[in-house]
Amino acid sequence: MNDAEQKMISRREAIIGAGKFAAGAAIVTLGAQVLPARVKAATPAAWPWGYKKLDVQEVGNLAYENWYKNFCCYAVVSGLLMPLQKSIGEPFTSLPLEAFVWGHGGAVGWGTLCGSLTGAGIATGLIAGKEGEAILNDVIAWYASTSLPIYKPAQPKAEIKNVNTSDSPLCHISVGKWMKKEGVAFASPQRKERCARLSADVAMRTATLLNDWADKKYKPVHGSNVKDHGITTQLNCMECHGDKVPTPVMPAPAK
Ligand code: HEC
Repeated sequence: MNDAEQKMISRREAIIGAGKFAAGAAIVTLGAQVLPARVKAATPAAWPWGYKKLDVQEVGNLAYENWYKNFCCYAVVSGLLMPLQKSIGEPFTSLPLEAFVWGHGGAVGWGTLCGSLTGAGIATGLIAGKEGEAILNDVIAWYASTSLPIYKPAQPKAEIKNVNTSDSPLCHISVGKWMKKEGVAFASPQRKERCARLSADVAMRTATLLNDWADKKYKPVHGSNVKDHGITTQLNCMECHGDKVPTPVMPAPAK
């Protein structure tokens, strides 16, 4: 065996060794995370998981910073739930927050529900159960009708000029209108900054409503789109249908 061959082998061994080590580490972490869940399986944690009032500014700062780690859905879930992992502990502590990264870009880039809102829904569902739906409904209505972003980071990662009202909870429409106004591409640092700030806004709005809910001051505002319009829908009908908005077929009145 010459020197070069020797080096190759020791490099391979090092790589294989590293692999073994990583696999071992994975089993150890898995063990630590899965075990409490298994133990709990016998006595499942009561759902919803409960709530301790959040510091709204802290939630926003966390969401903003965490956007740059794993994007919008993770940003909002972690902004809301990381403080509860500290203040409440289990079962929040065992929840792997990275499991919700998929919401980015309106579900892995499909431009459907803005991932920040998906994140808000995951959190409100765990925290408030069925009542969380009303909170999410109001967060979505607010999102679609508010000029965003509002949040100003202490140390911005990029400067942006524009805010916009989306009239829609869809990622594609919301970010598309803003990109046109700002004159930037999707991959630009400005667009990233806008989505990071907007995620902070959604997390803060959700925390504000959850705090009101905890104080028994929360009153749902937005009604049911299905009841009002006879179809699951967003409210910017004319942006898609022009002035020929179809009338949904309604059920025949009961005789
Ligand atoms: C994001 C775009 C978008 C928005 C917003 C939207 N629609 Fe639609 N809607 C569509 C598309 C696309 C279809 C598929 C059928 C078609 O091409 O007409 C559809 C289908 C429908 C249908 C069933 C098909 C029919 O002709 O009866 C109804 C009813 C309807 N929309 C009503 C509404 C109403 C009312 C609103 C607002 C409250 C609305 N839509 C908002 C895009 C949209």
